[in-house]
Amino acid sequence: MAKTTAPPIPLPRQRGAVTVRPGGLHEDLDALHEGDPLWWGKDFVADRVRSMPPGTPHLMLVGELDGEPVADAYLIGKGIAQNGYAGAGIYVLPRARRRGVGRAIADVLAEATVAYGLPGVADSVHALDEESLAAAGRLGYQVVGHHRESVLDLDTLDEAAATSSVARAEQAGFALSPLRDDADEAAWREVYDLTIETWRDAPDAEGSDEELPYSVFRGFLPEPSYVLMAWRDGRLVGMTAVMDRAKDEALNTFFTGVRREARGSGLSTALKAQHALTMRARGHHRIFTQNMDQNAPILAANERLGFSVVPGYYAVGRAVAQRDGA
Ligand SMILES: CC(C)(COP(=O)(O)OP(=O)(O)OC[C@H]1O[C@@H](n2cnc3c(N)ncnc32)[C@H](O)[C@@H]1OP(=O)(O)O)[C@@H](O)C(=O)NCCC(=O)NCCS
Repeated sequence: MAKTTAPPIPLPRQRGAVTVRPGGLHEDLDALHEGDPLWWGKDFVADRVRSMPPGTPHLMLVGELDGEPVADAYLIGKGIAQNGYAGAGIYVLPRARRRGVGRAIADVLAEATVAYGLPGVADSVHALDEESLAAAGRLGYQVVGHHRESVLDLDTLDEAAATSSVARAEQAGFALSPLRDDADEAAWREVYDLTIETWRDAPDAEGSDEELPYSVFRGFLPEPSYVLMAWRDGRLVGMTAVMDRAKDEALNTFFTGVRREARGSGLSTALKAQHALTMRARGHHRIFTQNMDQNAPILAANERLGFSVVPGYYAVGRAVAQRDGA
């Protein structure tokens, strides 16, 4: 695998009126994502880029039509997505679609994926965007899963239901506690280790052997109150954490994980319920969450808490043939 962040393939590329060239955080990425329901904003992206461990192979691309920037794309040259595929994204401004920009960029991403030695490249398509799903299909991407999105309105939270799910967990021997305000490195590491261990069992992680780097994990969590933990007999057995979702002035679940030995006792519901109560008391109004359709336990927990389903997105992936034929 490449150890540097230099493009693994020659750029720019020209194909008729379409140019694919290197991009970066200096570009007006928000303008290039106008109308994109999956866009979380340039600041969010900049935070993610900054929290990547130095040397993480990645590409940022801009697509131009007749010299005008009309598309943004990125690729992380590590097998962080399902099936060990590269994490990537392409967005072409609606007014510039069906002119070959998407194909030119997708070809560059596929070539870069091969150069990074990965089996394929992943992307996401909004669930209501049938046109893009059709285009993605033409570009060789197949749907590999669906992420349901739902939102919990903290202002109308069923407080009695939330409190009783916490009480049930406490009766079952669990103690819930936030990460201390003065959490030191060791305390953060403990939560990180539990996240890594339980993340391996999430459907989203299937086939990926990459671990979320510690710096990326920390980059999502601005302060200790964003993390709630569960203990049993002095052992950390569960956690839930949220991150900021500035585009909607809301929070978004970062991850909820319960160790195998503690599953089946309503702990994830209790964690999410207690955290919702805490975050409401801190002045927050909504928590979004995304879960894969096959993750029945967490979907049941969300339903019990009063999350309502909103349109989600498809996970798509395009396999690439390795140069050595492997
Ligand atoms: C998917 C997306 C990147 C395609 O961009 P684009 O610039 O319109 O793509 P192209 O013009 O290069 O078209 C690519 C292929 O899809 C086909 N296509 C495009 N739109 C289509 C549609 N609505 N229905 C059927 N086929 C379509 C094109 O004919 C072309 O096929 P061909 O090269 O075999 O002739 C663009 O729709 C987009 O940004 N969508 C939102 C973000 C997204 O969903 N990204 C995921 C990408 S995997």
